[in-house]
Amino acid sequence: MTQANGLKDTIACDTRISSIVDDRLSYAGYSISELMDNNASFEEVIYLLWNLHLPTQIELKHFEKELRANYAISDAVEQCILIQSRQHLHPMSVLRSTVSLLGVYNVKAEENGVEATYEQSIQLMAKIPTIIATFARLRRGEIPIAPREDLGFAANFLYMLNGKEPSELEVLAMNRALVLHADHELNASTFTARVCASTLTDIYSCVTAAIGALKGPLHGGANERVFEMLKEIRDQGSTEIYLKEKLDSHEKIMGFGHRVYKTQDPREPYLRQMAKELTEGTDEAIWYDLSREVEDYMKNSKGLIPNVDFYSATVYHVLGIDSSIFTLIFAMSRVSGWIAHIQEQKKNNKLIRPRSNYLGQENLEYIPIGRR
Ligand code: ACO
Repeated sequence: MTQANGLKDTIACDTRISSIVDDRLSYAGYSISELMDNNASFEEVIYLLWNLHLPTQIELKHFEKELRANYAISDAVEQCILIQSRQHLHPMSVLRSTVSLLGVYNVKAEENGVEATYEQSIQLMAKIPTIIATFARLRRGEIPIAPREDLGFAANFLYMLNGKEPSELEVLAMNRALVLHADHELNASTFTARVCASTLTDIYSCVTAAIGALKGPLHGGANERVFEMLKEIRDQGSTEIYLKEKLDSHEKIMGFGHRVYKTQDPREPYLRQMAKELTEGTDEAIWYDLSREVEDYMKNSKGLIPNVDFYSATVYHVLGIDSSIFTLIFAMSRVSGWIAHIQEQKKNNKLIRPRSNYLGQENLEYIPIGRR
């Protein structure tokens, strides 16, 4: 009997949202390079994933207006973030609980008609950056900053997080990072969201579950650990000795390897370029230089390629984002893809319920507890 292999290469659903063919990632037919090279905004990409076509100018304007009108979170939600920020909780656990709470406070959370689902989707998408920035500031002992409806998604997030108007380069980098992380076919968190959606549960439950899956170090949690590793290498002084020790003790190096990509993660060169541009000639150049050393060592010693999490660590750090909330930034973008998949799953639903390969004992005789 063959052993289960984590559903490797198994086709589990049909989709029109994104595809990976020959190490090329596309959103609804547009390759990542097509979107990146033409400076697509994150808002355009969300619209694309949800509607499977790019918006016209009027459609985009309307969509942006709807998002901006929903940026703000209620005092009750802010209070709950405040309570959680005082405890030493994992930031992804805080995001998971707060998204769940949005569902509790939404009186229409159990409605699942087209209109109600759309409203919930816009609200979730718009409020997640505010939740993250509020949490990050409260955790640093700072007062939260209210969102600004005159700013786009990327600029508003950086403004709320850092309390100052971001530069053009920073907004560009944030927007590009958001576009690159928006969707990725049937990765673990998206699969989780689709499994939940297939039971016809509400959107808040689906996104909450997806956040839980993304939190893991083998998925989105890797980027946080990449930056910790770069800091350790800097302190230790030798990339080669550090990596050799880890690999000799069979530890995985975060930000390397991929279940699907074999030659290159198509998102990585854009993040590498951004890391270079943002750090060049600054005190932060060390992170880019160390990353290049790690990349070379991993390629030469193990033939492993960097994935999306590797250079995003340096990009996020330079944008003023603390490494402990890197995975939240991933979630802030990926929620767009999760929502698209939840909606697609529900439109043509079939309960996702695979079978397992039982390896345990069989036909045992029950022995009363007194005789065991
Ligand atoms: N460091 C060292 N060795 C590695 C790494 C790594 N990062 N990735 C894979 N390998 C080795 C494994 O040890 C294994 O070697 P073996 O055959 O000698 O035992 C071989 O490569 C295959 O690895 P698997 O873990 O079986 O590959 P799988 O396709 O199941 O896993 C995964 C892919 C989970 C991404 C893996 O490469 C990994 O753990 N990477 C580190 C974590 C990471 O960066 N995650 C982010 C992924 S991208 C994303 O989710 C956004």
